[in-house]
Amino acid sequence: MKHEICRVADIPRTGSMVVPFFGREVHVWRSSERIRAAANACLHFGGPLDCKDGAFVCQWHGAKFDMESGERLEGPAPKGSRLMFLSTRVEDGALNYFWGE
Ligand code: FES
Repeated sequence: MKHEICRVADIPRTGSMVVPFFGREVHVWRSSERIRAAANACLHFGGPLDCKDGAFVCQWHGAKFDMESGERLEGPAPKGSRLMFLSTRVEDGALNYFWGE
C-alpha cells in the first residue's frame, strides 16, 4: 500500500519541510542524492524537531540528530538511537510512503 507524502518539486534544496502525516508530522529533506522522510518526533520524549545548521534539534531538551543517518549526535535521547525513517519511493513526481510490501 502507499500514501503520498508530498510532491518532489515542493521539497526544498536545503533544510527540510514538515508535512502532515496521518495526524502526525514528518520531516522531508534532500540528503545527498536521496530524499528522506522521518517522523517529527525526538527519541527522548517525542518532542518536535527543528532543522538547524544541518542537523535536527529537539525543541524540548536539545537532543541533536544527524540528517544523513538519523543517529543521535548529542543530548538526552538514548545513545545509539536513530530517527524513525519512513520507507519511501518516488513515483510520478510524488514522494510516497510504502508499507506492507
Ligand atoms: S524530548 Fe527531545 S530531547 Fe527530550
